Amino acid sequence: MGKDTLEVIAVEATQANMMDYEEARRQFDWADVEKRFSWYESGKVNLAHEAIDRHAASELKDKIALHYSDPQRDESYTFEQLRQQSNKAANMLRELGIGKGDRVFIFMPRTPELYFTLLGIIKIGAIAGPLFEAFMETAVRDRLLDSGAVAIVTTPKLVGRVPAAELPELKHIIVYGEESELENGQIHFSTAMDAASDETEIEWVEPEDGLILHYTSGSTGKPKGVYHVHQAMLQHEYTGRVVLDLQPDDIYWCTADPGWVTGTSYGIFAPWLNGATNVIRGGRFSPQDWYETIQRYKVTVWYSAPTAFRMLMGAGDEAVEQYDLSSLRHVLSVGEPLNPEVIRWGYRVYQQRIHDTWWMTETGAQLICNYPRMDVRPGSMGRPLPGIEAAIVDDQGNELPPLRMGNLAIKTPWPSMMRKIWNNPAKYEEYVRIPGWYISGDSAYMDEDGYFWFQGRIDDVINTSGERVGPFEVESKLVEHPAVAEAGVIGKPDPVRGEVIKAFISLREGFTASDELKQEITRFVKEGLSAHAAPREIEFKDKLPKTRSGKIMRRVLKAWELELPTGDLSTMED
Ligand code: WTA
Repeated sequence: MGKDTLEVIAVEATQANMMDYEEARRQFDWADVEKRFSWYESGKVNLAHEAIDRHAASELKDKIALHYSDPQRDESYTFEQLRQQSNKAANMLRELGIGKGDRVFIFMPRTPELYFTLLGIIKIGAIAGPLFEAFMETAVRDRLLDSGAVAIVTTPKLVGRVPAAELPELKHIIVYGEESELENGQIHFSTAMDAASDETEIEWVEPEDGLILHYTSGSTGKPKGVYHVHQAMLQHEYTGRVVLDLQPDDIYWCTADPGWVTGTSYGIFAPWLNGATNVIRGGRFSPQDWYETIQRYKVTVWYSAPTAFRMLMGAGDEAVEQYDLSSLRHVLSVGEPLNPEVIRWGYRVYQQRIHDTWWMTETGAQLICNYPRMDVRPGSMGRPLPGIEAAIVDDQGNELPPLRMGNLAIKTPWPSMMRKIWNNPAKYEEYVRIPGWYISGDSAYMDEDGYFWFQGRIDDVINTSGERVGPFEVESKLVEHPAVAEAGVIGKPDPVRGEVIKAFISLREGFTASDELKQEITRFVKEGLSAHAAPREIEFKDKLPKTRSGKIMRRVLKAWELELPTGDLSTMED
């Protein structure tokens, strides 16, 4: 299974490096990782201190921590400058009475100010809630309401999507932009930052205190707030060191937005905990722009996603040849299955193995990976990190032997594991329903050498261009449209995006199917929820397949779409 593909680029699995791995696992102890932090000595914990201030007080003080650029701006900040700017942000928030445990959201495109703010939130012990700038009003409201956010930092362009009147707990709207664009009651970011001191007292917290809330999609219900704590920094530091392989001279670029956990765990925490120079490129994706970014900064370590690699592959070899990408020494991927085809292409054009890594918003950091020194088996996610026990289990929690497909499970706990789902203990329990195990919702198998191979999601969650979309959230929006009686949403396989969203819709009386109506419904979701949640395809049906209890059977819709057998229909209504 899959093994025949590996000889193309992998070095032989030598006895030596296999033993290396086993030995590393035997010797590993999270307590040794803890010793690398200043809080091991001082007892004072705050991730932002370890990521920024500690370096600003060391010989790394004047090292570039952040290279930021977009089509309008081009700036660099040292660790000392980041320390000062994040202190200002911390003071700005404190001035408003915001403090430990409060939820503060960030709703803005990638700019240096986003990073100052996020670090400032952490410095005062508040909990950061990053949002994608693509979110529309419903998506923003659901997340702010559920978390009881007290403040949001946003921009004039996006503030219109913050329905303040429907958010009783939201007290402060801070806007980064021209002062003249502000409305009554809004706080001007730059004025407040200018007035704030660049020195602050960090709020020392407990390792188990809240750090960040990432909302993500499941197959049922509204998006859930995945809650992470400061203790997670152990795993961010460790994986930054051994999986990203960050070394003192590296120039590191993670292409993810902080609205996604990859953009915080690996766009902020892992690189800065390791004292690395971090590249942030704002603006839109284009192959030329991305290659230009690597060439310009001489990026050495590059972390991106299969969907991006597929788009780069689509742009052709000529695009690569126009740039000098010889600085690259380590390339990684996360978010969805990494196609062997892409790995082979990457090896040819970048002379780099693309190293797949597997993890989830809920796991907070990487768990199963292809290490730099390990053979890459194209199509496999790699092996569990030292300190992590992974297994394939059946629905009762029995471990299955190699090559049997089942639930991908991780032995609990590990430092960066989510501690709860905000406001929703029942949802959390679903993940840990089998004592001792975290059940990921992915199905996979393990080969005889302990490499894990992803097979699919067990639930209906859609992965489109690496973004998780919950079908329920899209269906809920669809049925708000006056023409829509019922809607069922599935992921349809797509060569570039992994999956695209397809909606099956039955219309209300008095509405007739047409292409204009399809476009209007798509626009409705785009403008109400977000562009990436809008269906790329709509099919009208007189009736949707439902269970006797009235649940739309997405499994049947998917079987129709793929022209597969529909399976057991005994629960379907007549
Ligand atoms: C999928 C946060 C295959 C998987 C990083 C998982 C992957 C979900 C991989 C998490 C991979 C992530 N190979 N599938 N290397 N990495 N996934 O929380 O289904 O947005 O459960 O990702 O993405 O999505 P999330």
